[in-house]
Amino acid sequence: MENLVGYKLFKNIYYGKRVLITGHTGFKGSWLAFWLKLMGAEVIGYSLESPTQPNHFSLLNLDIVHLIGDILDEEKLDVAFKTHNPEIVFHLAAQPLVRQSFNDPILTYKTNVIGTLNVFEACRKTPSVKVIINVTSDKCYLNKEWIWGYRESDEMGGYDLYSSSKGCSEILTQSYRNSFFNFETFQDHGVSLASVRAGNVIGGGDWAQDRLIPDIVRAISQNQVVYLRNPKAVRPWQHVLEPLSGYLLLASELSTGKNEYADGWNFGPSDGDAITVEDVVKSIKNNWADLKYEIKSIVNQPHEATQLKLDCSKAVSLLLWKPIWNSKKTFNITTEWYKKYYLENKILTRENIFNFINDAIDNNTIWTK
Ligand SMILES: NC(=O)c1ccc[n+]([C@@H]2O[C@H](COP(=O)([O-])OP(=O)(O)OC[C@H]3O[C@@H](n4cnc5c(N)ncnc54)[C@H](O)[C@@H]3O)[C@@H](O)[C@H]2O)c1
Repeated sequence: MENLVGYKLFKNIYYGKRVLITGHTGFKGSWLAFWLKLMGAEVIGYSLESPTQPNHFSLLNLDIVHLIGDILDEEKLDVAFKTHNPEIVFHLAAQPLVRQSFNDPILTYKTNVIGTLNVFEACRKTPSVKVIINVTSDKCYLNKEWIWGYRESDEMGGYDLYSSSKGCSEILTQSYRNSFFNFETFQDHGVSLASVRAGNVIGGGDWAQDRLIPDIVRAISQNQVVYLRNPKAVRPWQHVLEPLSGYLLLASELSTGKNEYADGWNFGPSDGDAITVEDVVKSIKNNWADLKYEIKSIVNQPHEATQLKLDCSKAVSLLLWKPIWNSKKTFNITTEWYKKYYLENKILTRENIFNFINDAIDNNTIWTK
């Protein structure tokens, strides 16, 4: 099997490294697990069963340590950490849907806040853990409906329960870092804890409810019309590999001595790639003529922010991170993934990862050198 070991990405730190991912059965977690596996990491996944059918994780058929467990089950989580002794932890398990947070606020808060606390506690009890990356969201910021991107130093907030649970997860990360993994006392504990905030992530293999791309591909596959609830909403769309490259770069810097980077980081698209929902749909229709859509406002629909952008200057200037694909390429590649899946039963994930890395190499991107 062709892998990425010879590419020596991220200073080659992932080769042979024990990396634990919570949420590996989900959309982003499954892409991350595959990328890490291709770089020669020993991947341990700890999650509930995949939340959707079909699901990307099962389609990939990955050879990793696959543990089914709840992050609310402290004992089981501790056993997983003690048994596998990870060095790097990416925490992605979450209730990640805004609409679901209206239906089940308690589960949303338990999973996203108490679950995160349990993961941090498991890390604290496991001496092998050196780097922890907590994946929150661009929605963690207090949304002021302004046109500028949010910076890492902006106020946390959240109109809906999902967003505020991610704001709480950020505050928890900061206070956990202050209390136990303080940079000032790094020599004593040797652990770096950071948080990462990305925007609306797209790519093949997402079948979550009430997300634009999965809703579109479900509708096409069933010959139905897609109804756009909020066509003028602007979101920072990016391919799933973009924020993952940021998470992997940050963790590699933290594990090679840049402990002062244990902080909050935005990983979003370039400013011009924050575009409206309607433009996204038009772009997909260009590649997949079967798409039929109508704009339809729904009475009593839950509140959704209209403007949301991220300012990624910090990651660009300190980590030298940069996005690789613009929105046009992102939508083309994503549409192609679903078309191949639905029309030919083929999975393009591996090809997407290799294309992304080759484009990153052509772009002289820091994590490829
Ligand atoms: N997809 C996006 O556009 C996006 C944008 C910003 C942030 N995020 C964040 O990225 C992370 C991953 O999101 P995703 O899109 O892959 O979501 P997803 O729903 O596809 O995956 C969530 C994962 O968490 C697991 N999980 C849920 N509750 C759990 C529990 N109690 N115990 C153990 N595992 C549990 C699920 O089984 C699944 O593996 C989340 O933290 C989400 O908030 C996603």
